[in-house]
Amino acid sequence: MVTTTAIKPIKVQKSTSLRIKELDYNNITFGKLFSDHMFYADFKNGQWGDAQILPYGPIPMSPATSALHYGQAIFEGMKAYKNDKGEVFLFRPLDNHKRINISAERMAMATITQDIFMSGLTELVNLDRDWVPDTDGSSLYIRPFIIGTDEFIGVKPSENYRFYIITSPAGKYYNEPVKVLVETNYIRAVEGGVGYVKASGNYGRSLFPAKLAQQRGYHQIIWTDARNHRYLEESGTMNLFVVIDDVLITPPLGDTILAGITRDSVVTLARDWKMKVQERKVSIDEVLDAHKNGTLEDAFGTGTAATIAQISQIGFEGKDYFLPPVEGRIFSNRVAKELDNIRKGKVADVHNWMYKIG
Ligand code: COI
Repeated sequence: MVTTTAIKPIKVQKSTSLRIKELDYNNITFGKLFSDHMFYADFKNGQWGDAQILPYGPIPMSPATSALHYGQAIFEGMKAYKNDKGEVFLFRPLDNHKRINISAERMAMATITQDIFMSGLTELVNLDRDWVPDTDGSSLYIRPFIIGTDEFIGVKPSENYRFYIITSPAGKYYNEPVKVLVETNYIRAVEGGVGYVKASGNYGRSLFPAKLAQQRGYHQIIWTDARNHRYLEESGTMNLFVVIDDVLITPPLGDTILAGITRDSVVTLARDWKMKVQERKVSIDEVLDAHKNGTLEDAFGTGTAATIAQISQIGFEGKDYFLPPVEGRIFSNRVAKELDNIRKGKVADVHNWMYKIG
């Protein structure tokens, strides 16, 4: 769907009862507390408009709203960081804008203009900049999302959409290295499907298999290919990396793999460091062989929420394989530190990933 731009100033209604006092900067749980304001814009009659910032809170909605029934719902995840000088930066926001539109096209939804995406984001984060924590490992998680808003329950693409942005202070996503179970029954994504986009339904469908894995003591699943369940795809909601014999390997982008922005940043840094990087299929057999002969040096997931989540244990067909202690892992520790340093302005941002707010 082609959309036209309606650049109008954003209407701002400030909250009269700020909740910032509820935020304990030293004890932040992911995704529970939301900042004082939110942004939305509406898509009607073929164009975006009515952009506004208002106090965070419930929005009345018809029970017939199409997104609730047929899943025209897509989202992004991104983060804002505060450096030692109190300056606030977004990490690669234009890449999130590109990706939400790839999701919108695949889900037959209205794409969002760059002006509305970026002006909504920057004005909202600037207004709530006190909510951006500066403690170690913390950030402001930002959740832009679009839903179909037709009041209609016939099955067809919605004609009306709403684009929202809400934000939430975030600490660590995982408190410990993750134990993962290789899934050989349930499927996350198939060729020709929607696995490569951030459609809400991709996450909903993952919850039951993840719950079964959690009941067996694992944190998450490693998804495998839908045909043979041999090739590794994603790790929970993250992209997956392994280091075998000093080579960084990650499954190639395609229909079933999300083009993670953290994934791309990790690949870019590894190449900067002249490490050998392979974006190719990697099977569970290859990983277990490497484990057996002592060449599996590292395994981790990457995503906006967790950044780098080191994997401590892989379960496969009733057996658990234990990986080297995380403290000694050379690549995942180095790349996690470097990303942190770039985001907090402690090293040069040579790739222009940081986008200053205000
Ligand atoms: C991410 O880390 O990028 C995610 O998608 C996780 C989020 C759904 C909480």
